[in-house]
Amino acid sequence: MQNHKTPVSSKLSIIAQPPPPARQDAAVLEMAVDVVRKKSIEVLMVPKSRVERHQKNVAITIDQDLIKSILSKFYSSVIITEVSSRNCLTKLAERSPDLVFSGVKYFDFEEQQIWLNDFLDQQNISYIGSNHSALNKEYNKGTAKETVRRAGVVTADYFTAGRDELETIKSTKLVFPVFVKPIQGGDSLGIDESSIAFTKTAMIAKIEQISDLHNCGSIIETYLTGREFSVGILEDELTGNITAMPIEIVTPKNKRGHRILDYDIKKSDNELVKRVANKDLLRQLSDVGTRAFRALGGRSFGRIDIRLCSKNIPHFMEANLMPGLSKGYFFRSCAINLGISYEQMIHHIAKNRLNQIG
Ligand SMILES: Nc1ncnc2c1ncn2[C@@H]1O[C@H](COP(=O)(O)OP(=O)(O)OP(=O)(O)O)[C@@H](O)[C@H]1O
Ligand SMILES: [Mg+2]
Repeated sequence: MQNHKTPVSSKLSIIAQPPPPARQDAAVLEMAVDVVRKKSIEVLMVPKSRVERHQKNVAITIDQDLIKSILSKFYSSVIITEVSSRNCLTKLAERSPDLVFSGVKYFDFEEQQIWLNDFLDQQNISYIGSNHSALNKEYNKGTAKETVRRAGVVTADYFTAGRDELETIKSTKLVFPVFVKPIQGGDSLGIDESSIAFTKTAMIAKIEQISDLHNCGSIIETYLTGREFSVGILEDELTGNITAMPIEIVTPKNKRGHRILDYDIKKSDNELVKRVANKDLLRQLSDVGTRAFRALGGRSFGRIDIRLCSKNIPHFMEANLMPGLSKGYFFRSCAINLGISYEQMIHHIAKNRLNQIG
């Protein structure tokens, strides 16, 4: 598998000051469209009928027409490729494009699971984002927390539990409140006001609900009562420099007076996204985001979710190494911190990987 990582310490450069809203970061952006580079890019999609929300093998759905129209301004050959069989992948390998732009994790063909990024690594074809091994570490929230904790990043104390461990939990001494959420998954699925449990009975009921409705175990953490942030990450792969782009996410209080980014809030888009004005906090968030991204083996871009505890210490919550590439938090973190447009963001993500292969 390819590994383009550079040593962490020597290459770290974190944006420590909030730039003015419309700043154009010349290092990050190179928007001259007068040169259309001779590169071939394939934007992958799976057959329409299979692109359902939360489909397991699609990490993020991308608007392939929009991506194609943006990238066509900068590169000579950009096509959309629908992958519906193993044969489509074989043909893709024969064409050997300079870059694959995709949000697909794996394919199930003839009972065989093929991870797209592994396949592309074997074919020496570049793709956006992190490799399979990093995505695996990020996917399980317990593994992600353990990995970043080993790298010295602060994260809330936790344990994991499935239905068959409930008897052991019943006899364990715990400090309440705790926060209960599915051990894996995104979009705040399975997270609602009952995620904050003040008693053992409430905690067990939530673990059972997650098992029944989402068919997975739970992660039970110390409830972090402070403000919430997300740190967009852009890595310059030629230099190894990281640009960390923190934003604050302010959610309305729920019926019980808590602010959590639960499923309903995300769906209704009721949260407020703000620039982080305090320089100290900005530096701390950038540091946690950068170190977590590095520890998980992230590449090129990602988003790290962080929350403050009651003592205002930033705690790593979870990582998104394939953050949504529509106009959600990742884009907003780029726009707010760098003043860049959506088009510039998409171009940067492609350019970064194309530089990698010269
Ligand atoms: N330990 C915690 N203490 C307080 N709130 C928490 C905790 N863990 C999660 N939350 C709340 O639940 C939300 C969703 O949690 P998390 O980010 O782990 O889930 P997700 O579904 O993977 O989100 P994403 O859509 O970002 O992938 C957080 O944004 C935060 O508001
Ligand atoms: Mg999250």
